[in-house]
Amino acid sequence: MEARPTKVAIIGAGAVGTAIAYSSLIRGVARTIALMDINTAKVTAEVLDMSHGLEFVPRADIIGGDDVSVCADADVVVFTAGAKQKPGQSRLELAEATIGLTKKILPGVLEVAPNAIYIMVTNPVDIVTYAALKFSGLPNNQVFGSGTVLDSSRLRFRIAQYCGVAVQNVHAYIVGEHGDSEIPLWSSASIGGVPLLDWNPLPDGEPIDSASRAKMHDEVVHAAYKIIEGKGATNYAIGLAATRIVEAVLNDEHRVLPVSTVAKGYEGLDDVCLSLPTLVSRSGAGSRLHVPMSEEEHAGLMSSAETLRKMQEQFGL
Ligand code: 2OP
Repeated sequence: MEARPTKVAIIGAGAVGTAIAYSSLIRGVARTIALMDINTAKVTAEVLDMSHGLEFVPRADIIGGDDVSVCADADVVVFTAGAKQKPGQSRLELAEATIGLTKKILPGVLEVAPNAIYIMVTNPVDIVTYAALKFSGLPNNQVFGSGTVLDSSRLRFRIAQYCGVAVQNVHAYIVGEHGDSEIPLWSSASIGGVPLLDWNPLPDGEPIDSASRAKMHDEVVHAAYKIIEGKGATNYAIGLAATRIVEAVLNDEHRVLPVSTVAKGYEGLDDVCLSLPTLVSRSGAGSRLHVPMSEEEHAGLMSSAETLRKMQEQFGL
């Protein structure tokens, strides 16, 4: 028997939602990509534009509209709707508007796609994920955030550039908030099996000392600010990152990705959504890995959790 055709619904046809739809089409992630936005003209135009390229991608349909019915029976729902981050504004400053929007939109989508895995991308993603879990009443595995998948890939890119190796050979995670308090786990990072902290520079290369690590950390934290200054939004890399998460779900990959989930009973953390390396499969976010951390990294993670917990409290979550 042929497998049931898969469907991904994307809420929000802005820079991020359309980048996810576009990369999902190119990668052949699902048979149907559905785009929903309250701006009818915009969503109609985006769908029409992408549908004119269907000849050049793996077999798929793209549909869209301003009504939630386009999301019906989706296997995965990716939530990107929300206020846009202005130059200089932090992700956490968007919280009030996006929590309100999540509360408004989510019930209708849940009605038509009750069994979907929900991937939250809207910022501040950790707070929005916590809010979505609370508003939906869905189990913790079914709703999770794109978290620091993008930040980890930004860090891997910088390490790869610095060391002169392919980005695919770098293993390194950013944990905690997708935002200013995020923490790179240098102590467990590696290149081709060599612990990063023991890395011997290649000919003409530089050692990875604490100053270069601090600089890379700073660059990753400020990457989005820099891109927003120049083009008003970040979209391509988050488009690819979110698509990778969708693939891990639809292909039941059990892939380790630093997505944002409720850290309940993890290292003394409780009731706060943040990113840790987590197994992602058809049932959504599964077990979190107990990654070894230095004392400094552990303290950084706890402090990131505290920042998020205070934010949750501030918004009555
Ligand atoms: C990013 O990190 C703004 O959260 C978005 O690109």
